Amino acid sequence: MKIIGTGSALPSLEVTNDMLAEFLDTNDEWISSRTGIRSRRLRSTETLVDLAVSASRSALESAGLNPEEIDFCICSNVANNYVTPAMSCIIQQHIGSHCPCFDLNGACAGFLDAMEVAEALLKTDRAENILIVCAEEPSRFCNWERRETSILFADGAGAVVVSKGDALKAIRLTTVPNRDVIVYQRRLETTPFEVPGVDVTEPLKMNGREVFRMAVETSQRDLHAMMEETGISADMIDYYVLHQANLRIISSIREHLGQPEYKFPTNIERTGNISSASIPILLDELYSAGRLKKGDMLALSAFGAGFVSGSAIIEWTK
Ligand code: COA
Repeated sequence: MKIIGTGSALPSLEVTNDMLAEFLDTNDEWISSRTGIRSRRLRSTETLVDLAVSASRSALESAGLNPEEIDFCICSNVANNYVTPAMSCIIQQHIGSHCPCFDLNGACAGFLDAMEVAEALLKTDRAENILIVCAEEPSRFCNWERRETSILFADGAGAVVVSKGDALKAIRLTTVPNRDVIVYQRRLETTPFEVPGVDVTEPLKMNGREVFRMAVETSQRDLHAMMEETGISADMIDYYVLHQANLRIISSIREHLGQPEYKFPTNIERTGNISSASIPILLDELYSAGRLKKGDMLALSAFGAGFVSGSAIIEWTK
């Protein structure tokens, strides 16, 4: 595969740390020093579908394709208020394409899952062009009366169009079974036959320290494995486009790799953690700002609930 178009959309409302401190027992100094986040965008007047459709349209425009030229639409989403139909179906109705659509839930590593599936579809000649949209609103499963997770998560959508090419040098997905490190159970209807107490739903729970440790460990392990597989060394990577979960996680990975800071672009300072949308949004911002040159080698890496991780090395060909 190769990436031929990028797009992104963030909600219009900027929420600073000080705004959160008005109703949570927290402060700007704590949040920015522990996470790197200074503000984030949260949905107010727009829906997640609006953001996903806007990111998709921009990616199509950037690819120079019309909606009918898309052969598959894959949406990466953890949760939204549609249990059914899939987000990808709703997005395609808005953008006007008529291709097979499906969603996948790979937590914050969902963009890499979608790339793996897209690569397989392109290799078997089942598709020429695939739209990958990552649309996430993790802010909607935080408890907004507590400070632990609501300071981290935010909303947004990022999209890419991929087509046939040989830019993808390596991709690696892993799962270490660990349900409890980040878990959130959706509340569904109860049937008259269910025995009360059999299925108790849990609100969002996260072991922040364990996530931190596993994130640094899995990302550097995956990146090293891909470098060994391809012969592309850490020095040969131009940019490390990592999941924007915590600036300290990014710094730890950078220190392990012994690479300079300029190779690790970030937007977490103003976006917060937008789950699987985080990498495609950052890619779109870097491309739009003229920071990516044809031939640049990018290393992508993300991790999240599962505990899952996904990484890739891809040449920028646009
Ligand atoms: N504001 C102020 N104080 C807070 C706070 C907040 N929002 N959240 C927790 N605290 C307090 C704690 O109560 C604790 O107080 P104590 O020392 O009196 O007990 C203290 O700050 C330290 O808490 P701790 O949880 O140890 O902080 P930390 O340095 O591990 O940072 C995270 C917490 C969540 C920022 C950090 O662990 C993290 O980012 N982990 C990764 C999470 C992540 O990326 N999740 C998504 C994965 S896709």
